[in-house]
Amino acid sequence: MTVSNPSPLTSDDDWWRSAVVYQVYVRSFADSNGDGVGDLQGIRERLPYLHDLGVDALWLTPFYTSPMIDGGYDVADYRDVDPMFGTLADFDAMITDAHALGLRIIVDLVPNHTSSAHPWFQAALAAGPGSAERARYLFAEGKGANGELPPNDWESIFGGPAWTRIDDGQWYLHLFDPAQPDLNWRHPEVRAEFEGVLRFWLDRGVDGFRIDVAHGMIKAEGLPDVGFNSMTTGQRQAELLGKGRLPYFDQDEVHDIYRAWRPILDSYPGGRMAVAEAWAETPQRLARYIGPDELHQAFSFDFLDATWSADSFRKVIDTALAESTIVGAPTTWVLSNHDKQRHVTRYGDGAEGLRRARAATLLMLALPGCAYLYQGEELGLPEVLDLPDELRQDPAFLRTGESRDGCRVPIPWSGELAPYGFGPAGSELSWLPAPATWRALSVAAQSGVPGSTLELYRTALRIRREHPALAADAGEVTWLEAGPGVLAFSRTAGDTVLTCVVNISGAPALVDGYGAPIAASEPLTGQGSGHLLRVDAAAWFERS
Ligand code: GLC
Repeated sequence: MTVSNPSPLTSDDDWWRSAVVYQVYVRSFADSNGDGVGDLQGIRERLPYLHDLGVDALWLTPFYTSPMIDGGYDVADYRDVDPMFGTLADFDAMITDAHALGLRIIVDLVPNHTSSAHPWFQAALAAGPGSAERARYLFAEGKGANGELPPNDWESIFGGPAWTRIDDGQWYLHLFDPAQPDLNWRHPEVRAEFEGVLRFWLDRGVDGFRIDVAHGMIKAEGLPDVGFNSMTTGQRQAELLGKGRLPYFDQDEVHDIYRAWRPILDSYPGGRMAVAEAWAETPQRLARYIGPDELHQAFSFDFLDATWSADSFRKVIDTALAESTIVGAPTTWVLSNHDKQRHVTRYGDGAEGLRRARAATLLMLALPGCAYLYQGEELGLPEVLDLPDELRQDPAFLRTGESRDGCRVPIPWSGELAPYGFGPAGSELSWLPAPATWRALSVAAQSGVPGSTLELYRTALRIRREHPALAADAGEVTWLEAGPGVLAFSRTAGDTVLTCVVNISGAPALVDGYGAPIAASEPLTGQGSGHLLRVDAAAWFERS
């Protein structure tokens, strides 16, 4: 089925309030030149697919010059494209085509740290202790008689100490890999540089930014100890992400940075926006990142982390909606991304996980606000759990044994043999291997097949785009009483009511009185005047 998207770009400055954004993990989306790595030209060639899928915008993970120690989140030049992904001219061609199809482009901005290959860090290493060059990063003397101990007990999110000692005896901070030194955001040159980077990409026409580690740029004065880490108590500091306070995350001063960025975004036409990848202790603190003078959105990772239970979903949805109402910003739903195990697998894997994932999608897409999809979820891709260790590239793997490679396997497009059309015809290369089971999950294998996950997404996205009760200005969520374990809510526009029902009760549920079904994650069976909703299924009903 082909969706009729409005084209060209609408002039609505508030487009992001109800947009569906598709995350492209550039390395793994489409490879135009057969080197086994996805690239910008590959994205350009697949824009018609994304247009037909029915999304409003793309978020591209970093494609900038990078040694690729952390998949490009280690940037050596913020104003250029890595040759692995193409050229600036490829970027310009891609964004021009995207806009012509009505698709907006959001790029990733990585301000917390640079690559250790960045000229600033190289200059800092060369210049020596106390130099102006070192002041742009967080260098410090160690503790102990000879400075042989790190300056404090901070731990890298990827495991191990957050400090590395260099030859002259000083230590530098890296909250992620040692190849990702943290910048000193109290330094005016750092602030000026990133304002310039924002303008560079805004001038090239980007519609928004996804801000990487948006909660991380400011560290508590004096760099105080956390008080525990995996070396002392066995508890990793990273376990506090989203749950507790850490002296290196979510400091109040970070908001000054966003208050400086917002006027820059607002000075460009067309509703340029920014979405925070932020982790904060409470939903209330997370909400501080969004609003008219800071960023436009912050991912609701509590929704992503919700377990498969009606109570769990109900709680995080209610909290997120309440917070968004207070700050006047839309909620930002997400079920999967390049850092998290794919939700098919999180919900139980296999047929059960897929059923639940499909139902969760109908739940997410019926909620008010913006929804982010991660490439391949529209195909129902599971996490690849059995990648050989020697192929894994996540820098966290060596330190923690945990790896995010399983959600980064290249997308299967077509054909009988891996990598299933990821590259040009006949190309056998792909930087991570796709499992044999993905032949049946390719875009070609699912296109036009009734009941396939791809067709479910196409249908749901078309309805979401066209249905007045799912529009940005439609009614808010009204919860309905539908029995234990059954989530049901409606949204209203004029006389039309759309009701979303998700059956998490463990038994088939009779659904009656909500009108005619217009989308369902599993086939519905008629029962009297109502419908039987299978276990782990969701459906949308319409009544007017
Ligand atoms: C963010 C990115 C992740 C990256 C990290 C360090 O969490 O999503 O992929 O490893 O930041 O930049």
